[in-house]
Amino acid sequence: MIKINENYLKLQASYLFSDIARRVSTYQQANPEQNLIKLGIGDVTRALPAACVEAFHAAVDEMASDSTFRGYGPEQGYDFLREVIAREDFQARGAAIEADEIFVSDGAKCDSGNFQEIFSSDIRVAIPDPVYPVYVDTNVMAGRTGEARDGRYEGLVYLNGNSDNGFIPDLPEQPVDLIYLCFPNNPTGAMATREQLQKWVDYARENRAIILYDAAYEAFIQDDSLPHSIYELEGSREVAVEFRSFSKTAGFTGTRCAFTVVPKSCMAYTESGEAVPVHDLWNRRHTTKFNSVSYPVQRAAEAVYSPEGKGQVKELVAYYLNNARYIRENMEALGYRCIGGENSPYIWIDGKTDSWEFFDRLLNDAGVVCTPGAGFGKCGEGYIRISAFNSFENVREAMTRISNSL
Ligand code: MLT
Repeated sequence: MIKINENYLKLQASYLFSDIARRVSTYQQANPEQNLIKLGIGDVTRALPAACVEAFHAAVDEMASDSTFRGYGPEQGYDFLREVIAREDFQARGAAIEADEIFVSDGAKCDSGNFQEIFSSDIRVAIPDPVYPVYVDTNVMAGRTGEARDGRYEGLVYLNGNSDNGFIPDLPEQPVDLIYLCFPNNPTGAMATREQLQKWVDYARENRAIILYDAAYEAFIQDDSLPHSIYELEGSREVAVEFRSFSKTAGFTGTRCAFTVVPKSCMAYTESGEAVPVHDLWNRRHTTKFNSVSYPVQRAAEAVYSPEGKGQVKELVAYYLNNARYIRENMEALGYRCIGGENSPYIWIDGKTDSWEFFDRLLNDAGVVCTPGAGFGKCGEGYIRISAFNSFENVREAMTRISNSL
C-alpha cells in the first residue's frame, strides 16, 4: 500500500495566495462587471527592462544556430552571471562573496523552501510571525512540527512581530538552530538596521546556528544606512545563507531567475559535532535536483548589471516605490497606522478589525484585492498588506475607491 507523507495533512488546505485567488475568482464570477484592482500577491506588472529584453532576444538567436546553440549549462549557473553578481551585488558593497558561492536558480521561493532539506529533521527552527508562509509550510512538510493549534504549529519557535518592536523580532528566549529572517520584510515592509541584524549574526555564531536570510526585496532599500546584504555584517559568512531574486527587482516573476549565496565558510554539524560546509551539501543537492535556469534567461539577468540595465531597474524600483508612498500616505490620511512602503513595496496596515473581514470589505465595497495579515501568522491578525505592484493609475483608482468605501 502506498502511503502518504502525513505531514502534509497538518497543512492548511491550500497555500495562502491560492486561497485568495480562489476567493477572488468566486467574487469575479458573481460580479463580472466589477473591474478588480489587484494589490494582493506581490506580482509585478511592468515590462522587463529593455536591456534584459535585448539580451534575451540575442540569446534566443544564439540558440537558433548550431554553431552557438547551448545544451545543459552548469547546474550552479553560468560563470558570466555568477561573476557579475558576486562583483556588483556583494564585492562592490564590501561583502567578500566569490562567484563560486552563488547558485543561480529559478526563484527565491523554491530556494528558501528547499534549503531546510539539508538539515537534520530534529533541529529547532525559529520563525518570525508574521512570516512568508513558505518557510513554515516547508518545515511542516519535512516533519519538523507537530499539529497546528490556534494558528501555530507545535515545535516551532515563533518570534513575535508587533507594533511595539516595529515588526523586528527579538532574539529567541530558547536556543534555536535555524533562523529565518527576511529584510526588507515580506509581509510587513519593515527593515532591520545594521545593529539589529548584527545581533542576529552574533546570536547565530554563539549558538552555532544558521540564518536563512531572504533579501528578495533588497533593491527597494533607499536608506543608505541600511544593509543590503547580511554579508555586510561582521562574522556573517560563517552563519548565513542569503536568498536574492530578480523577480521584484527587474520584473522577472514570469521569467524566473534568482540566486542563493552559500559562503564556503558557513558550517553545519554532524551528530558528533564535526563541521561540514553547507556549500558542499547545497551543491550536492542542487546538482542532483536542479538543472539551472535557461541560457537566455541567465543572459537577460546578466543585463540587469549593464549600465543601461542598472538605470532601467532603478527606474522600475522608483516607480513601484512611488506607488508605495502614495498608498501609505492615503491610508494614513484615512486614519490607519502603516509601516513599510519606504524601503519596501509592501505597506502593512493596522486595519483595526479582523484581517479577513477587512479583506472582504475592500473586495466587496471597493473592488480592491489586498492580502489579509492573518494569512501570514497569528501576529498578522488585525492587519492587511497592500502591494505597490501595479500601475500608478490603478493604485490611484484603488485609493479613491478605498477612501470612498471606508
Ligand atoms: C508575495 O506576495 O508575498 C510574493 O509575491 C510571494 C512570492 O514572491 O512568492
